[in-house]
Amino acid sequence: SETITIGELAKRMGIKATDLIKAMMKMGSMVTINHVLDHDAAVLLASDYGYEVENVAVDLDEILEFTPDAPELLQERPPVVTIMGHVDHGKTSLLDAIREANVISGEAGGITQHIGAYDVELHGRKITFLDTPGHEAFTAMRARGAKVTDIVILVVAADDGVMPQTREAINHSKAAGVPIIVAINKIDKPDARPEKVKQELTEHGIVSSEWGGDVTMVEVSAKKRLNLEELLEMILLQADLMDLKANPDKAAKGTIVEGKLDKGRGPVATVLVQEGTLRTGDYCVVGVHSGRVRAMQNDRGERVLAAGPAMPVEVVGLPGVPDAGDIFVAMKDEKQAKEIATLRQIKQRELELAKHAKMSLEQLYEKI
Ligand code: GTP
Ligand code: MG
Repeated sequence: SETITIGELAKRMGIKATDLIKAMMKMGSMVTINHVLDHDAAVLLASDYGYEVENVAVDLDEILEFTPDAPELLQERPPVVTIMGHVDHGKTSLLDAIREANVISGEAGGITQHIGAYDVELHGRKITFLDTPGHEAFTAMRARGAKVTDIVILVVAADDGVMPQTREAINHSKAAGVPIIVAINKIDKPDARPEKVKQELTEHGIVSSEWGGDVTMVEVSAKKRLNLEELLEMILLQADLMDLKANPDKAAKGTIVEGKLDKGRGPVATVLVQEGTLRTGDYCVVGVHSGRVRAMQNDRGERVLAAGPAMPVEVVGLPGVPDAGDIFVAMKDEKQAKEIATLRQIKQRELELAKHAKMSLEQLYEKI
């Protein structure tokens, strides 16, 4: 791997070698001008000179940003949908029902895996569903979810109506500018009052298109599998209005939907690809880690070699478990991936040092 002497590093940074030697002394190592630093140590040392690191950091953030493409490079992509709603209103049941109804009979056992995101197909078109966790504790993840989400399916139980988390979902969707389709669920129940639900939603600015508003509402039953295809049709119709596109012909960028440590496979992460195409063998940066995509599989447990825009895949090969919401960037070059991960570690270390510095100052004041 690459090495550099203190003297050479100082020269490249445009500072005196003695300053670097002093900096090393402060960190507890006594060195001479000919001391050899490995790559990471050099980057670390350079980072103590804020100016140098900030410059690199700017490039770093650019690499992590989603980049606009020329219109002729864009291709239609599937919509990404998040199901939201109050506890027990049937979010999980609805997603399960949609998936089960969608498993083509005879297809490789039709075994579905929990990877936190799924894709279903209707008339040869795909829809990607994000599976959001159910309770208030996951509000943050939902808020993040809304960023990668094109359309929110708001599930409201017909026998219960608008509840606190229904309102919360409406607020999140509005804040993120994401259109809502309402699924009025449990219409099989004798005490179902779909008209009352529509009335209550009106009070929150969600007006059914039947009543002259602009929100599509579908009455469904996850339990009795009623009107599920109609709901999917409405999602595709909404997607058509939004003209969702992405460039599949570049290195992939996406968002981590879920990360976990698997006993046999090590760190495993579900990535929702948002632009470009992710391929087995690609190097990548996620959070402060770099790694290589060793293998990918879809929500049916099938091996995939490539994943294009809006496709969720489970990735094996990361050195650590990433957080939901982390940005995933694929790279062809291993060195670049490692460098960026190192720089991100430094950035994180700086933030932590800054925190500690503040703390010790406060402690100092306490003593005075
Ligand atoms: P949380 O994840 O806890 O927020 O709940 P959820 O919104 O995912 O609801 P879930 O799918 O777990 O359903 C809650 C209960 O409602 C379960 O007992 C379901 O069987 C029942 N349920 C869901 N959909 C229907 C439906 O269409 N009709 C009837 N009768 N019951 C339903
Ligand atoms: Mg649930």
